[in-house]
Amino acid sequence: MSNKIIIAIDGFSSTGKSTIAKLLAKKYNYIYVDTGAMYRAVTLFAMNNNFVSKTSLDKEALILHLKNISLTFKFNKELGFAEMFLNNENVEKEIRTLEVSQLVSKVAAISEVRKKLVAEQQLMGNESGIVMDGRDIGTVVFPNAELKLFMTASADKRATRRYKELIDRGDKVEFNDILFNVEERDRIDSTREDSPLMKADDAISFDNSDMGITEQFDRICALVDRRIS
Ligand code: DC
Repeated sequence: MSNKIIIAIDGFSSTGKSTIAKLLAKKYNYIYVDTGAMYRAVTLFAMNNNFVSKTSLDKEALILHLKNISLTFKFNKELGFAEMFLNNENVEKEIRTLEVSQLVSKVAAISEVRKKLVAEQQLMGNESGIVMDGRDIGTVVFPNAELKLFMTASADKRATRRYKELIDRGDKVEFNDILFNVEERDRIDSTREDSPLMKADDAISFDNSDMGITEQFDRICALVDRRIS
């Protein structure tokens, strides 16, 4: 029997972390946790309660209401991955809009928000065989993860992928807004005081600007196989 390990995938926005994570979870029969979805769901909660907008952030009110936020993942057999539920409501589609993307980095910079979500993520790590993607998984959530990956790609390539995703699902968006959002989120995520996005010393970097999914996946599977056999 092979060992079950923790695979931590961090990196810049829209670098294909979740695509790789979902493929890994399927191949190795691991649980996949999309931590970005959790920050997005908290942001949606804050938007719905008028705690955050493009011009404002009521940090104190959001912190006060954190106890009213329940986040759960429920596996959807047809989709093959777990969808995000905010207070028992499926918010998987709503959390992927450009509006949420434009506000999420502000919310994710709040230490109290991070404390709550990191604690929940660490609890999920008690399950054996987990692949988790985000910005601080290898540095903060699971510093002892057996395999750490750090994904990068040019901003233009990433914005192109994200633009296609949103257009394909019927959202009306402009490419330049997506490019701006991708760069702005990276800037805020990398410069925030609490657990900024950075490569863990022992993480393996992957620049997938010019690498297809199959090649990337094969290389990553070889790294996993070495650790579980
Ligand atoms: O992975 P994503 O693009 O859906 O993440 C949305 C935002 O959430 C991202 O811009 C920063 C924040 N985030 C974070 O701060 N820490 C994580 N572990 C995951 C996401």
